[in-house]
Amino acid sequence: MQIFKEIGPLKLHLQHKRKEGFSVGLVPTMGALHQGHLSLIHASRQATDITVCSLFVNPTQFNNPADLEKYPRTLEKDTSLLESAGCDVLFAPETASMYERAEVIHFDFGQLDKVLEGKFRPGHFSGVATVVSKLFHIVEPDHAFFGQKDYQQLQIVTKLVEELKFNIQVHGVPIIREPNGLAMSSRNQRLSEADKTRAGILHESLSDARSRLLAGKPWTEVQKDIIEKINKTQDLQLEYFELTNRNDLTNTTNVDIKNGILLTACFVGSVRLIDNMLI
Ligand code: PAJ
Repeated sequence: MQIFKEIGPLKLHLQHKRKEGFSVGLVPTMGALHQGHLSLIHASRQATDITVCSLFVNPTQFNNPADLEKYPRTLEKDTSLLESAGCDVLFAPETASMYERAEVIHFDFGQLDKVLEGKFRPGHFSGVATVVSKLFHIVEPDHAFFGQKDYQQLQIVTKLVEELKFNIQVHGVPIIREPNGLAMSSRNQRLSEADKTRAGILHESLSDARSRLLAGKPWTEVQKDIIEKINKTQDLQLEYFELTNRNDLTNTTNVDIKNGILLTACFVGSVRLIDNMLI
């Protein structure tokens, strides 16, 4: 695996590869890699000739400075995981290369970045769209891979590609989970074993809500029960547990269950986790 910290040499390397006729896949990450990230690498390896993984803890998408500071950084371990997963190129830039000056660009996605995560993390998706646009321009991939774990992010990136006419095919890769159902996340590293066990209730609640909706139970009743149950659990503080349309996350009324998705965000101690489930 070749490792680049600078933009120029990476662009040059990829230009050569493209001239030789190789297709390029990009897997953007913030590091502290786990099996969820590696499944994106595998998906890229299957679809493309050269897989580039970017590893950059993007400051503009953190609306909470403490969260940015505490974000796990494990470059050495990440490098060997990528190496064994067969990744071809690692791009790990310094903040100064990605942001030469204070940012002035802001993205507005209408309602899509105002609901769910956007409501609780103002400015978050503008930061994601900024860094993903930069990565797309630097790497110029043919394909880009994102996890369904961050379902709203996947929708934002899809919109970004459509509106800005990036010639990139975006792929959504299914969620990888721990044996107790907890969605894998870099933030899980900050959870104690007891918290990890407790956090299993999120996946359990999503599955439970899904079954009850499919059995014809009214959403308001299901939502009320689930919120009560989660909030009764020690150390858990729910931010939202919502049902929306999977193709239009801004639509929460008259959701057709067959096209529905359940999405949740919850604090487990001081760690904020998100999860979702298609119905
Ligand atoms: P990060 O949280 O590191 O996630 C990188 C990619 O891995 C995202 O597309 C995310 O959805 C995917 N991913 C994380 N956990 C997963 C899981 N359990 N199963 C499947 N996929 C999973 O998301 C970001 O970084 C950043 O916002 C980024 C897109 C890199 C922009 O800075």
